[in-house]
Amino acid sequence: EKQLAWQRTAFHFQPPQNWMNDPNGPLFYKGWYHIFYQYNPNAAVWGDIVWGHAVSRDLIKWLHLPAAMIADRWYDINGVWTGSATLLPDGQIIMLYSGSSNDSTQVQNLAYPADLSDPLLINWIKYPGNPILLPPPGIDPKDFRDPTTAWNTAGGKWRFAIGSKMNRTGISLVYETQDFKSFKLLDGVLHAVPATGMWECVDFYPVSMTEPNGMDTSVNGPHVKHVLKASLDEDRNDYYAIGRYDEEKGIWVPDNPENDVGIGLRYDYGKFYASKTFYDQEKRRRVLWGWITESDNEAADIRKGWASLQAIPRTVVYDQKTGTNLLQWPVEEVESLRTRSKNFINITVQAGSFLPLDVGSATELDIIAEFEIDLEALDKLSDFDEEYTCGTSSGANQRGALGPFGLLVLATDDFSEQTPVYFYITKGSDGNPRTFFCTDASRSSIADDVMDDISGSTVPVLRGEKFSLRILVDHSIIEAFAQGGRTGHHYGINRGMANKSGVKVMMDRNDLLHTLMMTGSST
Ligand code: FRU
Repeated sequence: EKQLAWQRTAFHFQPPQNWMNDPNGPLFYKGWYHIFYQYNPNAAVWGDIVWGHAVSRDLIKWLHLPAAMIADRWYDINGVWTGSATLLPDGQIIMLYSGSSNDSTQVQNLAYPADLSDPLLINWIKYPGNPILLPPPGIDPKDFRDPTTAWNTAGGKWRFAIGSKMNRTGISLVYETQDFKSFKLLDGVLHAVPATGMWECVDFYPVSMTEPNGMDTSVNGPHVKHVLKASLDEDRNDYYAIGRYDEEKGIWVPDNPENDVGIGLRYDYGKFYASKTFYDQEKRRRVLWGWITESDNEAADIRKGWASLQAIPRTVVYDQKTGTNLLQWPVEEVESLRTRSKNFINITVQAGSFLPLDVGSATELDIIAEFEIDLEALDKLSDFDEEYTCGTSSGANQRGALGPFGLLVLATDDFSEQTPVYFYITKGSDGNPRTFFCTDASRSSIADDVMDDISGSTVPVLRGEKFSLRILVDHSIIEAFAQGGRTGHHYGINRGMANKSGVKVMMDRNDLLHTLMMTGSST
């Protein structure tokens, strides 16, 4: 019992009980952040899906409200599925969502708040003209779902995208409307990528190439790039790509075809799915929500009575330094939780050793650490390893020329449980260092029936940059970010035995690294 209670998070969003999946229709309205979500009110497994609803002033502390929409019409009786919000210039709020109809056809519907003067937007009205869209000819009735937020075009019309597939080519269809009453399917597709399967929860939004802030979904122009994201049903991961949107032609083109949607970058290399951004007009930022599952199996979820949570909302911007990726960073409100803080500055860690850091008995941590490597040492690196990946390596046990170095979190004193989050540097045949950022969950829990992946990705590190990481620990959850958010991982380490989150610095066996600074902060 105590064990179960310990696993629930403190500063991540979770309903009080039962199953949750995708974030839906996030928005900011009259001082409140709203999150809706795919929710099963009856069990800790997927099914009977309605829209759960909660509000917050700060994206951290939530007030749970009654379900915003339940499955009560023929066109959504098999599930009120995923959708997105659009704020119209006249103050109206339009919620576009997918319904699974009485014969399990996927149709698109519209809903709006019953009372716009209610900042909590408690009551929702389903549009009497629903469904507004049926699957078009040539599209399987079960492959047509998850409308995006609509954007306004130069011609004054609204457009939104819907994910689908043709054979195994993932596609995004686009509809156009003037009034949200009649809709036209545009010719062609926004984008298509062969062999990626069904695209769920497509997201499409602009990022600024010059400004630090986020952008309203309708913005476009010469200093704007567009991000296209798809959640690959077959692979259960969220892939994004950066490119340009040609509004006139109605197509999006990736900057780098090798990094196209579904074959290139992921938001997160742990479990992170069905994500969705919204533009926060109050703080002029774009915020990313993502559904994260834990390492537990279904039987354990049923025993616990709940399953899954939402990742900490992350601000997303274009990385103006690299030009190749986004930067994702926990919203600044998380920092208000740093009630106690400890700094470990210029500590020296012996090569090949582990140094426990005294963070007290905290179960919630926000850790920032930086490592520096002499450029000379980097240049001397002679380990040509073209093959290394986090996932195919033997994890933190595998020693290389430079790495692994990083932190062990959720670590017991005797190391029987530990989750290393670390860098590993190899040298490619082009002579340049390649930096990997990995999480090794193979020893996260002594329970033998939980996920135990080793995974991660490469991360761009510019010459002379320190190797920096940030790790949020929230009871059983770890979220880690490298190089200011150029890449990230999430892990849910359920049924770990550790009841405190021990932290140890892990040092590479070479004496090349200096820990420059670490600030740990417990809440
Ligand atoms: C993604 C998804 C969506 C669908 C919803 C149903 O996780 O399958 O495509 O709308 O969940 O709950």
